[in-house]
Amino acid sequence: MRITICFGGSILVPGNPDLDCIRDIVRTVRELKSRNHEVLIVVGGGELARVYINAARELGIPGVDQDQIGIAATRLNAQLLIAALGDIADPTPATVFEKAVRAMLRGKVPIMGGTTPGQTTDAVAAMLAQVSKSELLIFFTNVDGVYTADPKLDPNAKKLDRITPDELAKLVGTEFKPGMKTIMDPVAVKIIQRSNIKTIVLGKHEIPRLPEILNGAKHTGTLIAR
Ligand code: UTP
Repeated sequence: MRITICFGGSILVPGNPDLDCIRDIVRTVRELKSRNHEVLIVVGGGELARVYINAARELGIPGVDQDQIGIAATRLNAQLLIAALGDIADPTPATVFEKAVRAMLRGKVPIMGGTTPGQTTDAVAAMLAQVSKSELLIFFTNVDGVYTADPKLDPNAKKLDRITPDELAKLVGTEFKPGMKTIMDPVAVKIIQRSNIKTIVLGKHEIPRLPEILNGAKHTGTLIAR
């Protein structure tokens, strides 16, 4: 199966880089490759991006330049994962989708960070899934699925097994801010809405189970589909 996987920065670099999480990712991606899956990866910026974006904001640096700083952080995380994956990864973070797709067609695992101001790596993952014609798009986040409200703020929030792209669009709204925190960036939701890519949101504890989930095993996350 051809899949695009987005590892949220909040799980890769929640403060310092999470080495156990990175080791789980490396094991899982190797396993997926050994089962002949075609894998494309996007990584977020996490705390590294947030610290630098906050510094830029305090210095009065405008929004687009804050985004560029966030993008640089995502690419540093991409470079770290590339180095951890070794030979199976394309050696530099792709900055354009076509390069990532070419690397995947050569049998390598491309890893992208951010690309363009005004969005997050969620949107990059949705675009890469579409450009690469992936069958499935998976988001690993620090929240283990899509909830009716932010579970960190609302104790009555309930996790949804399934949601349609249109319902998700209503839940996340339309506004983008550098360093924003919602379950998914509105730009990504719009792409999923338009292209109807089958998408699953999972918690990081499901990373080691991904090979079986692709074989149809149950998961604890949220399916986004019509
Ligand atoms: P992230 O994708 O890491 O956003 O990009 P996030 O919502 O903080 O996600 P987690 O916490 O990593 O899961 C960090 C910031 O980098 C800029 C934006 O400012 C974003 O908020 N960015 C990233 C872009 O401007 N364009 C991109 O393509 C990617």
